[in-house]
Amino acid sequence: MSTLLITGASGHLGRRVAELLLEAGQHRIVLATRTPAKLADLAARGALVRGADFDDPASLATAFAGADRLLLVSTDALDQPGRRLAQHRAAITAAAQAGARHIVYTSLTNAVPSSIMSLAPDHALTEKALAASSLSWTVLRNNLYTDNLLPSLGFAVATGKLQTASGSGPIAYVTREDCARTAAAALASTETADRTLDVTGPAALTSAQIVALATTVTGRTITHGPVPADGLRAGLTQAGLPAALVEALVTFDLAAARGELQSVSTTVTQLTGRAPTTVADFLAAHRAQLAPPSLA
Ligand SMILES: NC(=O)c1ccc[n+]([C@@H]2O[C@H](COP(=O)([O-])OP(=O)(O)OC[C@H]3O[C@@H](n4cnc5c(N)ncnc54)[C@H](OP(=O)(O)O)[C@@H]3O)[C@@H](O)[C@H]2O)c1
Repeated sequence: MSTLLITGASGHLGRRVAELLLEAGQHRIVLATRTPAKLADLAARGALVRGADFDDPASLATAFAGADRLLLVSTDALDQPGRRLAQHRAAITAAAQAGARHIVYTSLTNAVPSSIMSLAPDHALTEKALAASSLSWTVLRNNLYTDNLLPSLGFAVATGKLQTASGSGPIAYVTREDCARTAAAALASTETADRTLDVTGPAALTSAQIVALATTVTGRTITHGPVPADGLRAGLTQAGLPAALVEALVTFDLAAARGELQSVSTTVTQLTGRAPTTVADFLAAHRAQLAPPSLA
């Protein structure tokens, strides 16, 4: 049985992958994180928890020792250009030096240099570093999380309008839970072929289709208000979001408008044996977050 290691294991995705593997009876699990204390409950269930920080490459040799297959969860370090890529490269180098054989990496849909998405270059160059390494790899190009719709639709419920710069461009939203299930399956498999897989929901939806679903689920009328990218940028900046996050969100919309986020794949079903959750079902399951009783 292989020893499976998850980096960033205290984040939302990493923790969920760890839980799924433990539930499936996989007990040779190493959880690498900057904050081991947050994983005390999973340590009590049999996972080995180790301290690891990609900004401190020296920490990675000990953290990665003995791992056969490793899930590299992309980090959220957007504060300084180049930092995230340096972190991912350090992790790949350390995994190879520690004797790991295979890396599963959480990338982004259409992670190609020509993409308009501000986050695409880091992912594209991480994929390149994997291809140049001595390891075999599975690249999971996750589409945008359906979960990301909750804050924006919550605001739209309150104001009656969902403002996006995506025009009529569709997005194949996928839930974080389906991404976690897919990553867990890829990590636990014995597959060693190099593969790049799009991870998407079952359909690509436009903003107009999303507001129609949200209207049905909440019973509140929400319309789609198209805004130009500069208007969206100004609004998000005024709301106090960090500049790099503003740029990521604005360019996701622009990418959708260009059709960069619309392909639908069968990866979730193929790897997990279960169809991905629809946006309609996800919104219905989270209705209370979209239309809290205080707004009634
Ligand atoms: N497709 C999408 O819509 C979407 C949305 C949000 C994020 N993402 C990407 O997917 C990743 C996982 O999503 P999530 O929902 O789990 O995000 P999250 O909860 O914000 O997790 C952030 C992750 O970054 C890791 N990290 C940050 N700095 C690190 C460092 N110096 N060394 C090692 N790990 C570091 C954290 O690990 P520890 O804290 O355990 O060390 C944690 O796993 C995100 O980090 C981001 O790259 C995708």
